[in-house]
Amino acid sequence: MKSKGLAMVILLLSVHLTDGGDVYVTCVFSEHCVMPCSFKPGSEEVIHWLKPDGGLTVHTYYYSTDQLQQQSLRYRRRTTLFNDQIHKGNASLLLSAITLQDQGRYKCYTSTIKGNKESFINISVEAPVHLVNIQLSDDIITCSSKDIYPEPKLTWSTNLPSDMPLDPGTIQTSTKEDDRGLYDITSTKQFSRDRTNICTVTSGTRGETATLRQQDPVQCSPSSEVSIPCRIPQSDLLTFNLTWRFNQIVNILTATYTKGTPQMYINDQWKEQVQSMSESGSLQLHRLTVIHQGSYSCERSTSRDTHLFLTYLEITPDKQSAGTIVVVVFVTIAAAATTAVGVYMYLKKRGREETSLEGEGISDNQVNHLNEPLNKRGEEDRTTSSVG
Ligand SMILES: *[C@@H]1O[C@H](CO)[C@@H](O)[C@H](O)[C@H]1NC(C)=O
Ligand SMILES: *[C@@H]1O[C@H](CO)[C@@H](O)[C@H](O)[C@H]1NC(C)=O
Ligand SMILES: *[C@@H]1O[C@H](CO)[C@@H](O)[C@H](O)[C@H]1NC(C)=O
Repeated sequence: MKSKGLAMVILLLSVHLTDGGDVYVTCVFSEHCVMPCSFKPGSEEVIHWLKPDGGLTVHTYYYSTDQLQQQSLRYRRRTTLFNDQIHKGNASLLLSAITLQDQGRYKCYTSTIKGNKESFINISVEAPVHLVNIQLSDDIITCSSKDIYPEPKLTWSTNLPSDMPLDPGTIQTSTKEDDRGLYDITSTKQFSRDRTNICTVTSGTRGETATLRQQDPVQCSPSSEVSIPCRIPQSDLLTFNLTWRFNQIVNILTATYTKGTPQMYINDQWKEQVQSMSESGSLQLHRLTVIHQGSYSCERSTSRDTHLFLTYLEITPDKQSAGTIVVVVFVTIAAAATTAVGVYMYLKKRGREETSLEGEGISDNQVNHLNEPLNKRGEEDRTTSSVG
């Protein structure tokens, strides 16, 4: 009877001690995470970290040192206690390289000469959306994001709130789960011209957005300078990356802004063409050739969103050399006409001397034969005149 009563008291005591309820902690995939646990300081500390679901031993400490002989393989070299804090009653465990298998409920058991205690920590793991990619190819726009948990959702919209929601039949979205349990998501749809195309990927309570807009083509000639604008809405964030790409694949330059100060890297292959980048992000190019005709994109990515702005650059024949050709042709024609008129005047004069023939017929002939070699025309003119 007496021992039964004692057992009852101990049971009540342990219920009381765990009554604080589970502590919930959200950890980030692949990073490290602190699982909190504290106890009333006392000597001869014993700490057991266990994962009852699966019967795993996570970490053990007694005789003032780690005792890892029984540690489950899954936690090998991933756990650390804050050794200098244990005497203050801190039994928190640092777990590194978090995976999805680390999710679940953990038990922290502590004991000192003053008594023992159990507490429970419920760990959930997230792999937040950290980058949303957006691309345009042949009027099909593709939005994608990788390595996400829990399962993400993707939605399309435009900058015009009056736009009807897109017909789901025109959108193709697919989600794939990899062997780590993370999700990749990809969606395609027809590109909406004259609009900002917006793609939002959300997972849990958090989301990230990517936008894409295309503007009218810009033209320039090979010998001239050109400025390609980067019309991306202003952001209050001072830490971001700005990347200019050619045909959306080749990096031209990358500027990494940290607290507003840029660090710029220009691709060696573009050093000759890149003159500068303005404060607004527009790109100044020169010494272009036809191979530089194509799509130029400026992309700004912050921790919250990505904006992509596309401009097609058309390299038209050099205006200056085209002008020169026009002048040369004009001068040639003028010279030919002058000569023809000279010949006509001469013939007319001679004709007046020899006969009383009118010059109108000859005049028509001269116009018709303007493209023929001069001497041949001269002969013909003479023939015409003598026939007349
Ligand atoms: C234990 O110590 C670590 C390292 O100083 C600290 O991050 C953590 O918050 C402490 N935990 C508790 C429960 O005191
Ligand atoms: C941990 O907490 C989540 C809610 O955040 C709950 O769904 C899950 O069942 C809990 N796990 C355990 C083992 O209690
Ligand atoms: C900027 O680029 C660097 C290097 O690629 C990357 O580590 C960093 O996370 C990027 N920052 C933002 C805000 O996207």
